[in-house]
Amino acid sequence: MKKKRKKKYRLKPRFFVIIAIFLAFVLSVSSCTINKISDKRDDKKSEKKVSQQVDVSRAELLKADGNNGLFILINKQNAVEDWYTPADLVPIESYYAIDRSAECRYMRSEAASAFLNLAADAEAAGLDIVMTTAYRSYDYQTTLWNQNVARYGSEEEANMISAKPGQSEHQSGLAVDISTESIGYKLLESFKDTPEGQWIAEHAHEYGFILRYLDGKSDITGYVYEPWHIRYVGKTAAAEIHDSGITLEEYLNQLEI
Ligand code: DAL
Ligand code: ZN
Repeated sequence: MKKKRKKKYRLKPRFFVIIAIFLAFVLSVSSCTINKISDKRDDKKSEKKVSQQVDVSRAELLKADGNNGLFILINKQNAVEDWYTPADLVPIESYYAIDRSAECRYMRSEAASAFLNLAADAEAAGLDIVMTTAYRSYDYQTTLWNQNVARYGSEEEANMISAKPGQSEHQSGLAVDISTESIGYKLLESFKDTPEGQWIAEHAHEYGFILRYLDGKSDITGYVYEPWHIRYVGKTAAAEIHDSGITLEEYLNQLEI
C-alpha cells in the first residue's frame, strides 16, 4: 500500500509581502490617528489656557475691586445689622449741600476720593454736582424711615422710596445721593433732565459709580427710579454694569468668581 505522504504547506514569499504591506498600512493609519488626537488635545489645552487667561484676568480685576468689600449687597433681601459701620469712613470736605446733616457727610475712603474726582471734573465741565447724604447709620435710617412712613401713610408706600433700617445701602458708606442748584438741591426725578443728571448717567461709571435704582427695574431693586442715587463698585464693575444696563443684583448674580 502506498504510504500517504503528508502534505506540506509552505507559505509563499508573496504572502509575507502582503502581510508586511498590511501591517505597514495599519501602523501608519493608527499613528496618524494618534497624532490627530494629541493635536486636538493640544488645541483644547491651548484654547483652555487662553480662555482661562481671559477669565482669570477679568476675575482678578473684579476681585481687586470686590475684595475691599465693594460688592456688598444691601437691599430688601440682604439686610445688615445695626452695628455694621464701615471701618474706613472719611469726611467729605467739599461738594456737599450745606443744609444737610454733617453726620451723613462721610464715605468709605476709596468711594470718597472717587466722588471728589467726579464732582471736580463735573465742575471743570461747567456743572454743579454736590452730595446731599452719603453714609447713613442704622439709627439715622431709623429716624428717616419713621418720617417717611408718617409722610406716605403706610410702610408699603414708604418702602418704595425709602429703605427700612438695615436695608439701606447708604449704611455701606458706598452710596451717595447727589443733586444740583437748578432743582434746589432736592432729590427729584427731574434731576435726570438737568445737564448734571445727564452727565452723571453718561460718566459716573468712569469714576466707579453706578446708577443703583434704574428706571423700570423696581421689580428687581425694590425701589422706584432714583437718578440721584449712585453707588461705588469700582471702575471695572461699574463699566460692565453701565454697558450692559443691568442692576447690581443681576450683576452679582451672574458673577462667578
Ligand atoms: N432711597 C434708598 C432706597 C434708601 O433709602 O436707601
Ligand atoms: Zn440714596
